[in-house]
Amino acid sequence: MDPSGYDLLKTAVLLLDGGLRIRHANTAAEEHFGLSRRQLEGMEAARLIDGAQSVVKVPLRGAPWAWLYEIPVRTAVLDDRQHIHADQAAQRESLRNLAHEIRNPLSGLRAAAQLLEGELDDPGLKDYTGVIIAEADRLVDLVERLVSSQRQGLEVRCFNIHEVCERVYTLLAAEHGRRIEIVRDYDASAPEVRADFSRVLQALLNVARNAGQALAEQPQNPAPRLVLRTRVGHQLVLPRRQVRMGLVLSVVDNGPGVPEALRDKIFHPLLTGRAQGTGLGLSLAQEFMQQHGGLVEFDSRPGHTEFRLILPMEPL
Ligand SMILES: Nc1ncnc2c1ncn2[C@@H]1O[C@H](COP(=O)(O)OP(=O)(O)O)[C@@H](O)[C@H]1O
Ligand SMILES: [Mg+2]
Repeated sequence: MDPSGYDLLKTAVLLLDGGLRIRHANTAAEEHFGLSRRQLEGMEAARLIDGAQSVVKVPLRGAPWAWLYEIPVRTAVLDDRQHIHADQAAQRESLRNLAHEIRNPLSGLRAAAQLLEGELDDPGLKDYTGVIIAEADRLVDLVERLVSSQRQGLEVRCFNIHEVCERVYTLLAAEHGRRIEIVRDYDASAPEVRADFSRVLQALLNVARNAGQALAEQPQNPAPRLVLRTRVGHQLVLPRRQVRMGLVLSVVDNGPGVPEALRDKIFHPLLTGRAQGTGLGLSLAQEFMQQHGGLVEFDSRPGHTEFRLILPMEPL
């Protein structure tokens, strides 16, 4: 039997000898375990597979191998992520189209209100045109943010991720002073990343600002705390694939948690839980990370919210 046929499978396959040592590993197994075929071969299967992992064990009779172990790769998560990724991209696209449609008539309205204002003698009436113009400006601002340059190419360069973290730290410290304890927990071994500096900065800033705001809105919290953490992660499931290595930027806060009603749709554009919010912060952060082949994900419960920005460290 030629085992190379297994390389086409999405699930990890190990062929074992009678002593349960690995004799062959397919490509998905290499990816799953983060080890090369050569490293895997000869290893005892028990060293890799703990009891918790679901493994399908098939005895092979009459073949040079005694067992075939199949380890389902987390394709369900992968498919789910793909689905969410496409869904979010479609939403942003339709909103952007809508914003384009609104832009022209809006500037027409604004210009007409200005002309009208010039013709009016009664200052009481000018108050009304003033309202029209101010509200039109507010809408123009929103529309501009929706259609703005996100489709421009990435300006990729190499940098140390902690440069980004330090900028965010400085901005947050300036915004919140001593009211919030901001902890920097950096992985000094993190290699340089190749990415668009300003978009990664914007993404992290949007996420960190939300955490800062959530803490600031909870004055009864005796020790509001925000952690900026960096780690190198392995075997990360991303929207389009699973990657061996990536950088994980976490923002952890001990605030009230993401409101239950928002959890499923928190990355949707225009969705906000705050009176002054635009709902664009997380949508944009997600878009910027996805442009790098990465993503933003979160876990939240009262007292502990963690947003993670994942940046793959291998080319798309
Ligand atoms: N760390 C957090 N803790 C609690 N709620 C959060 C946190 N981060 C985001 N949220 C919720 O998600 C909503 C959407 O965030 P975002 O997209 O940045 O829009 P905006 O900040 O303009 O409301 C926020 O309004 C808030 O309700
Ligand atoms: Mg925000």
